[in-house]
Amino acid sequence: MKIAVVGTGYVGLVTGTCFAEVGIDVTCIDIDQRKIDNLHKGILPIYEPGLEEMVTRNVAAGRLHFSTKLAEAIKGCDVAFIAVGTPPGEDGSADLKYVLGVAREIGENMTSYGVIVTKSTVPVGTAAKVRKEIADALARRNETIEFDVASNPEFLKEGAAIDDFLKPDRIVVGVSSERAEEVMSRLYKPFLLNGHPIIFMDIPSAEMTKYAANSMLATKISFMNDIANLCEIMGADVNMVRKGIGSDARIGTKFIYPGIGYGGSCFPKDVKALIKTAEENGYQMQVLQAVESVNEAQKEVLYNKVRKHFGGELSGKKIAVWGLSFKPKTDDMREAPSLVIIEKLLAEGCTVSAYDPVAMEEAKHSLGDTITYAKDQMEALIDADALLIVTEWPEFRVPNFEVMSRLLKQKVIFDGRNIYDAAELQAAGYAYHCIGVKTAHHEPA
Ligand code: UDX
Repeated sequence: MKIAVVGTGYVGLVTGTCFAEVGIDVTCIDIDQRKIDNLHKGILPIYEPGLEEMVTRNVAAGRLHFSTKLAEAIKGCDVAFIAVGTPPGEDGSADLKYVLGVAREIGENMTSYGVIVTKSTVPVGTAAKVRKEIADALARRNETIEFDVASNPEFLKEGAAIDDFLKPDRIVVGVSSERAEEVMSRLYKPFLLNGHPIIFMDIPSAEMTKYAANSMLATKISFMNDIANLCEIMGADVNMVRKGIGSDARIGTKFIYPGIGYGGSCFPKDVKALIKTAEENGYQMQVLQAVESVNEAQKEVLYNKVRKHFGGELSGKKIAVWGLSFKPKTDDMREAPSLVIIEKLLAEGCTVSAYDPVAMEEAKHSLGDTITYAKDQMEALIDADALLIVTEWPEFRVPNFEVMSRLLKQKVIFDGRNIYDAAELQAAGYAYHCIGVKTAHHEPA
């Protein structure tokens, strides 16, 4: 089989590389010449564990190619994935200009039957628009080449994307012909060996599945953040409550960790887009509206705790921040709660010294030199009045608290990810604040 993947962003690059890994001939296409040149040299535009080695290996094996020339690469392809960006417009709805532009170019250049698959997260109804763009382009050429469109949403988690792709919980494909179903089955066969199901459905349902999945997960998080906040008020412990409810299989143990709000490229964007789609169609997504506003408020929870601890006197305080990316194992700073927290601290006249294992370069795009970037996690603590845990990178989990107490000016920790044991820290003389976990009975004198 021969496939093309258009767009070498996060989704496109992982998709293309993983298909090459199982022996399929893949060309990844992007209009950005610099990106393609870098990829040829093995330099990736994103950080994703294991991806660089996999790209290098498959390029060397001659199965993975990179090009800026869609017109050439599309010729003779069995399947073309559209994995370009769908940036949110002013009103939160997904902007489809790149997706439809690619569809048009495919229609202008395809030479034989192929399935054109939307892989970017696109609103319900987009595949139909893609079909029309291609059909119109073919008509302009006076060509009658047959084609199908399909919708194949991705469920990759950043930081675990390769594993998610190679060993998926399920693969969802929306199709409207048996021929397309047969092609997609053949393409995904190597990934289904361990009993992972491929679920075929109509195209709008596949498009909706992606939004429904992300919205459900975002709902779990906002719900738990609400519960955690209430636990604090009522003297309950969210860790206990989490265990208590998670053991009910209908609720489950995953994705019920409270924190400082969800971020990243998917949840915030998809929740907004689904609210918008509903609105445009005369329906109000009341639960999701609440999910969104809880999340906005939750990004400020850690900052509010800092303010309260220092009695509102933040001017001149030096705050150390561990973790900038929206979650560990990624350098992605999109919608990262760190940005909101740091902005608020700076506005109060604090200075901020931050450390993140991989996201500091990325963070500089939005934070510039408004903060200092430490060369390691301990350096960030020197003379700081408090430490904020913003991202739960593994290396922050068991630090040397004794060394830390010598570096910090004040032994105060605000833990936005509940990674430490409150009793242990308080016994070591720290003032420890976290999210919804009972600490009052350990409060230092
Ligand atoms: C998510 C979906 O998991 C994936 O299926 C989809 O394709 C894209 O969006 P991703 O954005 O990479 O993936 O991150 P994920 O690991 O799901 O975490 C999302 C956010 O939720 C992070 O900000 C994380 O910190 C937060 N989160 C997650 C919590 O606050 N609590 C939890 O229990 C789980």
